[in-house]
Amino acid sequence: MKKRVLSGIRATGRLHLGNYLGAIKGMLALQDDPNYETLYMVADLHTLTTPYHVGALRQNRREIIIDYLAAGLNPEKSILFQQSANPHHAEFAFYLSSVVTIAKMQHLPTFKDKVKQYPQHATMALLNYPVLMTSDIILYKASAVPVGIDQEPHLEVAREIARRMNHDYDTDFPEPQRFKTAGEYVPSLIGEGKMSKSIEGSYINLMDDLKIIKAKLAKAPTDSGKGTIDSMPSSVSSLLIFVKLFQGEEKRLLYENAYQKEGIRYNDLKKELSEAIYEEIRPIQEKRKELENNPKKVDKIINEGNEKATAIAEETVKEVRKKMGLL
Ligand code: TRP
Repeated sequence: MKKRVLSGIRATGRLHLGNYLGAIKGMLALQDDPNYETLYMVADLHTLTTPYHVGALRQNRREIIIDYLAAGLNPEKSILFQQSANPHHAEFAFYLSSVVTIAKMQHLPTFKDKVKQYPQHATMALLNYPVLMTSDIILYKASAVPVGIDQEPHLEVAREIARRMNHDYDTDFPEPQRFKTAGEYVPSLIGEGKMSKSIEGSYINLMDDLKIIKAKLAKAPTDSGKGTIDSMPSSVSSLLIFVKLFQGEEKRLLYENAYQKEGIRYNDLKKELSEAIYEEIRPIQEKRKELENNPKKVDKIINEGNEKATAIAEETVKEVRKKMGLL
């Protein structure tokens, strides 16, 4: 039997390079592997766990599917859908919440970080974030999840819940594993931490043109260009990670050597890197323009995806309801 794959991206904004390298590249690789059946969703329910704008969510839950299509996800190979359009995600999350303690959820680093970020919004929905994510995955009995490394704590929760359910209710949920990609850690453009939609100046959007990419890279902090590897500031090693991701490891090594000898000329580095990044995302931008001119086609893809996902989920929910005494 084919192994199932599920992944999703929160509908909090448009996609950036971090999403592309950390998640979408993995999604594409699995979609084209005949050993897997792939389901990719927009996690629009997860958007409700932090402050958001209604109009923006309504738009993003559609835009992200268009970005998926533009990036090469193919509705003939993958089921592309919206999480909230399948009512079983929320329903199943409630069943799963009965085998998880509050203490466990409160101690997750991801929960604590968000509470720090939004102290006024420590909601039940936020506490339940990992349970909903587990629901997304095991609803389809998925065993592989292409996501960034920052999601590992959530996958640990998913495995624990799967084990618990199998033990308590005799179900057969696989323990989902993260599918790793080369760009699983994409650093911020401005030094510390990862590229993130919520940190201004840290990200390049998939739809940024060459001019914008150059302007963003121009703001990335550097140093004199010379020194020992140990003394290299994180903003410079981040730039070199981008070089590796878009221009290859050989190129990165050249710069690393230059750093210890004649010095790096950051103007040249940034110019070449901007062009390499733009080259990689340009075809995605072109495909997107095509799709924007064909809203009916997009609607049809979304509706069909939503239906297919719901039909698969229905089976699992029926089984679980029976095993839990609700049927
Ligand atoms: N938590 C994920 C993120 O922030 C998004 C997500 C929600 C997800 N449900 C999922 C990812 C299920 C993989 C599988 O990136």
